[in-house]
Amino acid sequence: MNKIEIENVLFSPEEIRDRIVQMTGAIENDYRHQDLVLVAVLKGSVLFLADLVRGFSCPLAFDFIGVSSYGYSRTSLGVVNLEKEISINIRGKDVLVVDDILDSGRTLGWVKEHLQKFGPRSVKICVLLEKEVERVIEVKADYVGFKIPNVFIYGYGLDYRDRYRHLPYIAKLEEGEVPPGDIVDE
Ligand code: IMP
Ligand code: MG
Repeated sequence: MNKIEIENVLFSPEEIRDRIVQMTGAIENDYRHQDLVLVAVLKGSVLFLADLVRGFSCPLAFDFIGVSSYGYSRTSLGVVNLEKEISINIRGKDVLVVDDILDSGRTLGWVKEHLQKFGPRSVKICVLLEKEVERVIEVKADYVGFKIPNVFIYGYGLDYRDRYRHLPYIAKLEEGEVPPGDIVDE
């Protein structure tokens, strides 16, 4: 395996950790005494969810929803497919959808509308990153870790061709560049 030596780090592990601690505090404060269920969107949100929930001191539940919209393209394919349905009953619950990034809004717009069908008390959105681009679907994120310009990023849950999700930092990929250590698929 080729070793990864990343240069274009946008957010370090420390910066990510510090921001998430603040986000956990804000969410916990807003949802005090409520029946909170986090619904994390697979797979990009997994690292974020794991770090976000660690700081909670109140009881909460979390679940996963699986959707695909991106494929191997750097730009959204525009179609959202449900790949894994939630398994917790969210009727009457306060739901917070957790995702890695809000980009075109297609994914989170679709997920929010889908979850409404189960009769939750409320549905809000929490993302680690928000791209400052024009949304295709109008979606508002209620909690945002960092706002970023329209660049392609990877690491800390976000993939480049299904790899690099495990990186503890977020790096930027320039147009036409491939990540250091990338293996070219046949
Ligand atoms: P949207 O549906 O266009 O808002 O895209 C949301 C999904 O696209 C995210 O959950 C990510 O999985 C993926 N995505 C958007 N921007 C990036 C990026 O810069 N790098 C990697 N994945 C991205
Ligand atoms: Mg995703």
